[in-house]
Amino acid sequence: MNYVSVKDIDSIDKWVKEARELKQSPFKHQSLGTNKTIGLLFFNPSLRTRLSTQKAAQNLGMTTMVMNFDKEGWALEYEDGIRMDQGKSEHIKEAAQVISQFCDIIAIRAFASLEDKEKDKAEIVLNGFKKHASVPIVNMESSVGHPLQALADAITLDEQMESLMGRKPKVVLSWAPHPKALPHAVANSFVEMMQQQDADFVITHPKGYELDAEIVDDSQIEYDQDKAFIGADFIYTKNWSSFDDYGQVLHQDLSWTISKEKMALTNSAKFMHCLPVRRNVVVSDAVLDSENSLVIEQANNRTFSAQLVLKKILENLNK
Ligand code: CP
Repeated sequence: MNYVSVKDIDSIDKWVKEARELKQSPFKHQSLGTNKTIGLLFFNPSLRTRLSTQKAAQNLGMTTMVMNFDKEGWALEYEDGIRMDQGKSEHIKEAAQVISQFCDIIAIRAFASLEDKEKDKAEIVLNGFKKHASVPIVNMESSVGHPLQALADAITLDEQMESLMGRKPKVVLSWAPHPKALPHAVANSFVEMMQQQDADFVITHPKGYELDAEIVDDSQIEYDQDKAFIGADFIYTKNWSSFDDYGQVLHQDLSWTISKEKMALTNSAKFMHCLPVRRNVVVSDAVLDSENSLVIEQANNRTFSAQLVLKKILENLNK
């Protein structure tokens, strides 16, 4: 069993329920991971993913190995049949097989380059490990998706549902400005997760910032942010660069920053963001510091999202 995409979740309701049970009793399955090792390979920086996945593994009794592959590993070649006479020192074929001898699960973070759309869509790092490793693979954010984040977000949403008294929530995914070109992975996985939820789901962004149409599918898009916010129960905010004009920052329209005035259009909505977030660019201090902000709890739920995934993989290994 691998966990590389939100599509690997067979029932979001059941997974969220089980993750919330783990949150209540995090040490209940400590024997499951005894004598098992997870290798966390980072090709990009991380705070939450790195610490929460280690915490999740430790809660299950596993040993963790962490490697900053971009700085500490050999530069990997992913193409088959190539003469390796340039900068790349090791082929994914050997690297993945060798790491599989040391680890029972391999987790990988490898962001999009935002330079070559086709290469990014091909997920060469994640799929290279999937193809050549002999152990399960977990996606800790790849070019296309961040399924551990999306599962944590589903847990966070579920925890807030009681206040809605059984009413179907309106959830808005809103683009917000950012000075740097950011990948689409978090937004993509959030969209895919919301497509599995019973919710009124709306995506809002300026024209030119359309996400991959294959992922958006028939999800509703509203180009007027104010209109999208009316009656919303949850505002999930994220910046992403242009997908059509691949990896470009078309503009940084600060009128899209999430402010108190924008939040006043909603149904006292909760504010969500995966973090890290740039204050007073993506979202104002007043919103981020308000009692309606769920960002710290979202980060907390990363542990239980990862713990559920690792528990399912370990149970599968022990079969
Ligand atoms: N949300 C998230 O994945 O955070 P990090 O990039 O810090 O891991």
